[in-house]
Amino acid sequence: MSRLRWGVLGTANIARAQFLPAVRETGQRAVLVGGRDRDATAEFARAHGVERFVEGYAGVLEDPEVDAVYVPLPNPLHAEWTVAALRAGKAVLCEKPLCLDPRQVERVLAVAETAARPLWEAFVFPFQAQHQRLVELLAAGAIGDLREIVGSFHFEVRTPGNIRLSREMGGGALADVGCYPMRLAHELFRAHAESATGTAVLGDEVEVDATALLSYPDDRRLLVTCGFRRAYDTTTVLLGTEGSLRLDNPYHPGPDTVLEVRRAGADPVVERPTRDTRSFSAALRHVAAVLAGEQAPAHTALESALPVARALALAGAAVSAP
Ligand SMILES: NC(=O)c1ccc[n+]([C@@H]2O[C@H](COP(=O)([O-])OP(=O)(O)OC[C@H]3O[C@@H](n4cnc5c(N)ncnc54)[C@H](OP(=O)(O)O)[C@@H]3O)[C@@H](O)[C@H]2O)c1
Repeated sequence: MSRLRWGVLGTANIARAQFLPAVRETGQRAVLVGGRDRDATAEFARAHGVERFVEGYAGVLEDPEVDAVYVPLPNPLHAEWTVAALRAGKAVLCEKPLCLDPRQVERVLAVAETAARPLWEAFVFPFQAQHQRLVELLAAGAIGDLREIVGSFHFEVRTPGNIRLSREMGGGALADVGCYPMRLAHELFRAHAESATGTAVLGDEVEVDATALLSYPDDRRLLVTCGFRRAYDTTTVLLGTEGSLRLDNPYHPGPDTVLEVRRAGADPVVERPTRDTRSFSAALRHVAAVLAGEQAPAHTALESALPVARALALAGAAVSAP
């Protein structure tokens, strides 16, 4: 296939900050962006290297030059526009979490199956070299059996109008960033969360900080700490029967990001496996390879979306319990 041609729904911050730079890093094309406001969308296209713009989102889905659609809309709009893009025959990369309600996830996945189009939830880390190295180390027994994951994701939200602070926009610390450790735990434990306990600090509409302890089969567990009130921190520690593995930045690593393995009686082993400067690049290369028929789809929404939505539902109920 010639260079993959993307259409983008909305002039989102994440599209500007991560997705479009990765489109450039991978030599793909952003051919069309649709947004609610014509002038703002035109300015976004001009400023961020998108070839054309259109008012509204439907025009992106109808455009024959668009091979794949990126959906970085607020969480409650993911299902509607992902379904519309799949029915229009497009491959879809939808922002995380695909849906907050597990039943809605099932409906969207059924549409993807009927449409026979690939659908990814934009957890881009499983495609990255660091994550692949992590999986390799665990499989080789670097820390023995993985028993526990302690995962944080914090950053500061300062602007009052941010969608993360809005109940109507599907905000809250768990849905916005707590979902990352849940996605990681599902892949590494190969199981769904079974139960949760937790506590949260409530803002005006949503939890702005939360801690949840999720249990997995065979007495394994995930401790998630997440929120909008601290400096950026995604430190994650995997604890096994023979050692531990620490990641500075498991989700958006760069070339300086460190992975460290510790075992009793041995010096720590430090690695920096990341080559890409943009955390979305590996995922975008994979999407292009799938559409070119060179790779089978991997790490799709079929694998991730339901376990994430179920873990979010368990944790959400636990932190809001009286
Ligand atoms: N994978 C990652 O690393 C990552 C990182 C950050 C965020 N995200 C996810 O990406 C999505 C967007 O996050 P963001 O921080 O980029 O949000 P954002 O900057 O607020 O952008 C959301 C876009 O959605 C459109 N929109 C449509 N209806 C809207 C409404 N009622 N209110 C506000 N915006 C509306 C707007 O575009 P128009 O006005 O142009 O239509 C807006 O620019 C979320 O699902 C979030 O969880 C993922």
